Amino acid sequence: MHKNRPFTRAGIVRGQTKFLARGRWANADLMLCRVAGSHWVVKDFSACPDPIKNTWGVWMVRREFNAFLRLAGLDGIPAQPFLVDRYAVAYRFMPGKTLRDISPDVLTREFFLSFESLVLEMHARGLVHLDLRNRRNILFMDNGRPGILDFQSYINLCFVPGFLHRLLKEIDLSGVYKIWNNSRPDLMDKARMDRLFAMNRKRGLWVLKGYPMGTKGRRRGEE
Ligand SMILES: Nc1ncnc2c1ncn2[C@@H]1O[C@H](COP(=O)(O)OP(=O)(O)O)[C@@H](O)[C@H]1O
Ligand SMILES: [Mg+2]
Repeated sequence: MHKNRPFTRAGIVRGQTKFLARGRWANADLMLCRVAGSHWVVKDFSACPDPIKNTWGVWMVRREFNAFLRLAGLDGIPAQPFLVDRYAVAYRFMPGKTLRDISPDVLTREFFLSFESLVLEMHARGLVHLDLRNRRNILFMDNGRPGILDFQSYINLCFVPGFLHRLLKEIDLSGVYKIWNNSRPDLMDKARMDRLFAMNRKRGLWVLKGYPMGTKGRRRGEE
Protein backbone atom coordinates (compact mmCIF):
# COMPACT_ATOMS: atom_id res chain seq x y z
CA MET A 1 0.00 0.00 0.00
CA HIS A 2 2.83 2.40 0.83
CA LYS A 3 4.05 2.32 -2.73
CA ASN A 4 0.66 3.49 -3.94
CA ARG A 5 0.18 6.33 -1.48
CA PRO A 6 -0.20 9.52 -3.49
CA PHE A 7 1.91 11.39 -0.91
CA THR A 8 3.46 11.09 2.54
CA ARG A 9 3.46 13.35 5.58
CA ALA A 10 6.65 14.93 4.30
CA GLY A 11 4.80 15.66 1.08
CA ILE A 12 2.19 17.65 2.98
CA VAL A 13 4.84 20.10 4.09
CA ARG A 14 6.31 20.38 0.64
CA GLY A 15 2.94 20.80 -1.03
CA GLN A 16 0.91 23.91 -0.67
CA THR A 17 -1.18 23.58 2.47
CA LYS A 18 -4.00 25.58 3.95
CA PHE A 19 -6.00 24.91 7.12
CA LEU A 20 -9.71 24.29 6.56
CA ALA A 21 -10.24 23.89 10.30
CA ARG A 22 -7.95 23.78 13.28
CA GLY A 23 -8.48 20.92 15.67
CA ARG A 24 -9.01 21.42 19.35
CA TRP A 25 -8.50 18.79 22.01
CA ALA A 26 -9.97 15.64 20.41
CA ASN A 27 -10.78 17.20 17.03
CA ALA A 28 -8.57 16.79 14.01
CA ASP A 29 -6.84 19.44 11.96
CA LEU A 30 -8.36 19.62 8.50
CA MET A 31 -5.86 20.59 5.83
CA LEU A 32 -6.27 21.29 2.17
CA CYS A 33 -3.13 20.23 0.33
CA ARG A 34 -2.14 20.68 -3.25
CA VAL A 35 0.04 17.85 -4.39
CA ALA A 36 1.12 17.38 -7.99
CA GLY A 37 -1.71 19.57 -9.22
CA SER A 38 -4.51 17.78 -7.29
CA HIS A 39 -6.28 18.98 -4.17
CA TRP A 40 -6.55 16.67 -1.19
CA VAL A 41 -8.04 16.98 2.27
CA VAL A 42 -6.00 15.59 5.15
CA LYS A 43 -7.78 14.93 8.44
CA ASP A 44 -4.96 14.79 10.94
CA PHE A 45 -5.02 14.00 14.65
CA SER A 46 -1.25 14.21 15.09
CA ALA A 47 -1.44 17.58 16.87
CA CYS A 48 -3.79 16.23 19.57
CA PRO A 49 -2.31 15.39 22.98
CA ASP A 50 -0.49 12.04 22.92
CA PRO A 51 -2.96 9.96 24.92
CA ILE A 52 -5.75 11.13 22.64
CA LYS A 53 -4.05 10.78 19.32
CA ASN A 54 -2.81 7.28 20.10
CA THR A 55 -6.24 5.98 21.07
CA TRP A 56 -9.10 8.12 19.84
CA GLY A 57 -7.16 9.59 16.91
CA VAL A 58 -5.90 6.28 15.54
CA TRP A 59 -9.37 4.76 15.91
CA MET A 60 -11.17 7.68 14.26
CA VAL A 61 -8.77 7.76 11.32
CA ARG A 62 -9.24 4.01 10.72
CA ARG A 63 -12.98 4.28 11.07
CA GLU A 64 -13.36 7.12 8.61
CA PHE A 65 -10.98 5.44 6.16
CA ASN A 66 -13.08 2.25 6.33
CA ALA A 67 -16.27 4.22 5.65
CA PHE A 68 -14.74 5.87 2.58
CA LEU A 69 -13.55 2.48 1.30
CA ARG A 70 -17.02 1.06 1.68
CA LEU A 71 -18.58 3.96 -0.18
CA ALA A 72 -15.93 4.07 -2.90
CA GLY A 73 -17.24 5.02 -6.31
CA LEU A 74 -20.34 6.89 -5.15
CA ASP A 75 -20.57 10.33 -6.71
CA GLY A 76 -20.60 12.82 -3.84
CA ILE A 77 -18.40 10.88 -1.40
CA PRO A 78 -14.74 11.92 -1.05
CA ALA A 79 -12.73 9.73 -3.41
CA GLN A 80 -9.30 8.02 -3.36
CA PRO A 81 -9.02 7.72 0.42
CA PHE A 82 -5.73 6.56 1.87
CA LEU A 83 -3.95 6.50 5.21
CA VAL A 84 -1.13 9.03 5.34
CA ASP A 85 -0.01 7.30 8.56
CA ARG A 86 -1.75 6.15 11.76
CA TYR A 87 -2.87 9.65 12.61
CA ALA A 88 -4.16 11.00 9.33
CA VAL A 89 -6.51 10.03 6.54
CA ALA A 90 -6.51 11.81 3.19
CA TYR A 91 -9.04 11.96 0.37
CA ARG A 92 -9.78 14.12 -2.63
CA PHE A 93 -11.07 17.61 -2.09
CA MET A 94 -14.52 18.21 -3.57
CA PRO A 95 -14.75 21.76 -4.91
CA GLY A 96 -17.84 23.51 -3.60
CA LYS A 97 -19.30 25.10 -0.49
CA THR A 98 -21.05 23.62 2.50
CA LEU A 99 -24.78 24.21 2.88
CA ARG A 100 -23.94 26.41 5.85
CA ASP A 101 -22.07 28.79 3.58
CA ILE A 102 -24.39 29.19 0.61
CA SER A 103 -27.64 30.97 0.00
CA PRO A 104 -30.54 28.47 -0.30
CA ASP A 105 -31.55 30.32 -3.48
CA VAL A 106 -29.01 28.35 -5.51
CA LEU A 107 -30.46 24.99 -4.43
CA THR A 108 -32.73 23.08 -6.79
CA ARG A 109 -35.18 20.22 -6.39
CA GLU A 110 -32.71 18.05 -8.34
CA PHE A 111 -30.07 18.83 -5.74
CA PHE A 112 -32.27 17.58 -2.91
CA LEU A 113 -33.40 14.51 -4.85
CA SER A 114 -29.75 13.63 -5.52
CA PHE A 115 -28.94 14.20 -1.85
CA GLU A 116 -31.74 11.81 -0.87
CA SER A 117 -30.55 9.23 -3.45
CA LEU A 118 -26.99 9.49 -2.22
CA VAL A 119 -28.14 8.77 1.33
CA LEU A 120 -30.15 5.78 0.10
CA GLU A 121 -27.11 4.47 -1.81
CA MET A 122 -25.04 4.84 1.34
CA HIS A 123 -27.67 2.85 3.26
CA ALA A 124 -27.62 0.19 0.53
CA ARG A 125 -23.90 -0.20 1.27
CA GLY A 126 -24.71 -0.80 4.90
CA LEU A 127 -23.74 2.51 6.49
CA VAL A 128 -25.72 5.17 8.32
CA HIS A 129 -24.08 8.59 8.63
CA LEU A 130 -26.00 10.02 11.63
CA ASP A 131 -24.70 13.58 11.37
CA LEU A 132 -26.48 14.81 8.27
CA ARG A 133 -28.41 17.51 10.10
CA ASN A 134 -25.19 19.44 10.38
CA ARG A 135 -25.10 21.58 7.24
CA ARG A 136 -21.31 21.76 7.40
CA ASN A 137 -21.21 18.10 6.50
CA ILE A 138 -23.12 18.61 3.25
CA LEU A 139 -21.57 20.19 0.18
CA PHE A 140 -23.13 22.01 -2.71
CA MET A 141 -20.45 21.07 -5.20
CA ASP A 142 -19.41 23.38 -8.00
CA ASN A 143 -21.10 20.99 -10.44
CA GLY A 144 -24.41 21.54 -8.61
CA ARG A 145 -24.46 18.08 -7.04
CA PRO A 146 -24.47 17.17 -3.35
CA GLY A 147 -21.49 15.85 -1.44
CA ILE A 148 -21.45 14.20 1.98
CA LEU A 149 -18.50 14.67 4.32
CA ASP A 150 -17.42 13.64 7.78
CA PHE A 151 -17.87 9.94 8.52
CA GLN A 152 -16.84 10.17 12.15
CA SER A 153 -20.28 9.38 13.55
CA TYR A 154 -21.32 6.67 11.11
CA ILE A 155 -22.36 3.17 12.07
CA ASN A 156 -21.78 0.03 10.04
CA LEU A 157 -25.16 -1.70 10.11
CA CYS A 158 -23.47 -5.13 10.15
CA PHE A 159 -22.83 -4.55 13.83
CA VAL A 160 -26.35 -3.42 14.70
CA PRO A 161 -29.29 -5.73 15.32
CA GLY A 162 -31.75 -5.69 12.42
CA PHE A 163 -34.65 -4.22 14.34
CA LEU A 164 -32.74 -0.94 14.72
CA HIS A 165 -31.82 -0.50 11.05
CA ARG A 166 -35.01 1.29 10.08
CA LEU A 167 -34.76 3.74 12.92
CA LEU A 168 -31.14 4.58 12.15
CA LYS A 169 -31.87 5.08 8.45
CA GLU A 170 -34.78 7.33 9.38
CA ILE A 171 -32.46 9.50 11.45
CA ASP A 172 -30.44 10.11 8.28
CA LEU A 173 -33.48 10.74 6.09
CA SER A 174 -35.03 13.08 8.61
CA GLY A 175 -31.76 15.06 8.42
CA VAL A 176 -32.12 15.31 4.64
CA TYR A 177 -35.77 16.40 4.87
CA LYS A 178 -35.08 18.81 7.71
CA ILE A 179 -32.43 20.63 5.70
CA TRP A 180 -34.69 20.56 2.64
CA ASN A 181 -37.67 21.93 4.58
CA ASN A 182 -35.63 24.60 6.37
CA SER A 183 -33.92 25.86 3.25
CA ARG A 184 -36.36 25.34 0.36
CA PRO A 185 -39.84 24.21 1.53
CA ASP A 186 -41.17 25.52 -1.79
CA LEU A 187 -39.29 22.71 -3.56
CA MET A 188 -40.56 19.96 -1.27
CA ASP A 189 -43.55 17.79 -2.15
CA LYS A 190 -46.34 16.94 0.23
CA ALA A 191 -45.39 13.28 0.54
CA ARG A 192 -41.91 14.12 1.84
CA MET A 193 -43.24 16.88 4.11
CA ASP A 194 -45.69 14.40 5.62
CA ARG A 195 -42.87 11.95 6.07
CA LEU A 196 -40.77 14.56 7.88
CA PHE A 197 -43.64 15.46 10.20
CA ALA A 198 -44.29 11.79 10.93
CA MET A 199 -40.59 11.30 11.73
CA ASN A 200 -40.55 14.37 13.96
CA ARG A 201 -43.57 13.11 15.85
CA LYS A 202 -41.79 9.83 16.43
CA ARG A 203 -38.64 11.65 17.36
CA GLY A 204 -39.80 12.18 20.92
CA LEU A 205 -39.57 8.43 21.29
CA TRP A 206 -36.13 8.05 19.84
CA VAL A 207 -33.46 7.04 22.22
CA LEU A 208 -30.84 8.08 19.70
CA LYS A 209 -31.06 11.60 18.40
CA GLY A 210 -29.30 13.52 15.65
CA TYR A 211 -25.83 12.96 17.00
CA PRO A 212 -26.10 9.70 18.86
CA MET A 213 -22.46 8.66 18.93
CA GLY A 214 -21.25 12.01 20.22
CA THR A 215 -17.86 11.41 18.67
CA LYS A 216 -16.69 14.97 19.04
CA GLY A 217 -17.45 18.36 20.45
CA ARG A 218 -18.80 21.08 18.27
CA ARG A 219 -16.43 23.55 16.77
CA ARG A 220 -16.96 27.21 17.54
CA GLY A 221 -20.01 28.53 15.73
CA GLU A 222 -21.35 25.11 14.73
CA GLU A 223 -25.01 24.45 15.22
N1 LIG B 1 -13.41 16.33 0.64
C1 LIG B 1 -13.73 17.60 0.98
N2 LIG B 1 -14.01 18.48 0.02
C2 LIG B 1 -14.30 19.75 0.33
N3 LIG B 1 -14.33 20.25 1.58
C3 LIG B 1 -14.06 19.43 2.60
C4 LIG B 1 -13.75 18.06 2.35
N4 LIG B 1 -13.52 17.47 3.54
C5 LIG B 1 -13.70 18.43 4.47
N5 LIG B 1 -14.01 19.62 3.93
C6 LIG B 1 -14.25 20.90 4.64
O1 LIG B 1 -13.75 20.77 5.97
C7 LIG B 1 -14.80 20.92 6.92
C8 LIG B 1 -14.63 19.95 8.06
O2 LIG B 1 -14.58 18.61 7.57
P1 LIG B 1 -15.25 17.41 8.37
O3 LIG B 1 -14.87 16.15 7.68
O4 LIG B 1 -16.69 17.72 8.57
O5 LIG B 1 -14.45 17.45 9.75
P2 LIG B 1 -14.84 17.81 11.24
O6 LIG B 1 -16.29 18.17 11.29
O7 LIG B 1 -14.49 16.60 11.99
O8 LIG B 1 -13.96 18.96 11.55
C9 LIG B 1 -16.08 20.71 6.13
O9 LIG B 1 -17.17 21.40 6.71
C10 LIG B 1 -15.71 21.25 4.77
O10 LIG B 1 -15.83 22.67 4.77
MG1 LIG C 1 -18.02 17.94 10.17
